[in-house]
Amino acid sequence: MFNQDEISPKTPDDFIYSNEESRLRIKDVVTGAQPLPYAGKSGVLLYGIYGTGKTTLANMLPNAIEKGTTGHVQALPESYIGCRQGLNGVQVSQTIDKILSTQSLNASGKHYIILDEVDVLTKQAQESLKSSLNTTRGVFVLTTNSVSKLDKGLLDRCILVEMNAADPETYLPIAHKVVAAHDVVLNDEELIPTIKGANGSLRNVINNVARQARRAKSNQAAN
Ligand SMILES: Nc1ncnc2c1ncn2[C@@H]1O[C@H](COP(=O)(O)OP(=O)(O)O)[C@@H](O)[C@H]1O
Ligand SMILES: [Mg+2]
Repeated sequence: MFNQDEISPKTPDDFIYSNEESRLRIKDVVTGAQPLPYAGKSGVLLYGIYGTGKTTLANMLPNAIEKGTTGHVQALPESYIGCRQGLNGVQVSQTIDKILSTQSLNASGKHYIILDEVDVLTKQAQESLKSSLNTTRGVFVLTTNSVSKLDKGLLDRCILVEMNAADPETYLPIAHKVVAAHDVVLNDEELIPTIKGANGSLRNVINNVARQARRAKSNQAAN
């Protein structure tokens, strides 16, 4: 078996991005070249298909931003709100108001709030969220599979970062690690179709390549 830890991204720069603009936008936010909140924008919205690392990156960003902009790690963990639990507008604003009304212990003086899968919020809940983003006390990290389901005003308050499928070749280093752990040899021409079939989902890349490697291994043993 291979060690999942070996291929898990450790910093925002380790992620596979579908384009360089996404990598740059994340870099600017982390270094403070793009300050947040600033000029009415207080959020980063990671959008794109399943399995491209949105939730993983969202969880990593608060500490990365705090460290990158102040040199200090977060004093307290960020607040994570999974939108699947079905919050209404009142619950969204109450939850956020409660967080923002406390004193932040971070060097930046800011609170970090993650909202995972914001598209599942009702229209009314998204409107409340939009108002909550009008603050200078917090930095918001949002994720969604579906930009078209989001309130336009909410989008306008965020830096948008696309997280979709990258070129198949980009996933080869990960595929090689998975293959190597199975103690077989597969060349890139064999791996590329498998990677393409995964459609940008890292979960599928890892799973499908591992299956291909096991199959190759048992064929080898049979011959
Ligand atoms: N760019 C990446 N490089 C390496 N591993 C990744 C990358 N993106 C995602 N992963 C891994 O793939 C899995 C799925 O990521 P996740 O954040 O749940 O995706 P999403 O929220 O976009 O559906 C996680 O186990 C994560 O560690
Ligand atoms: Mg997710």
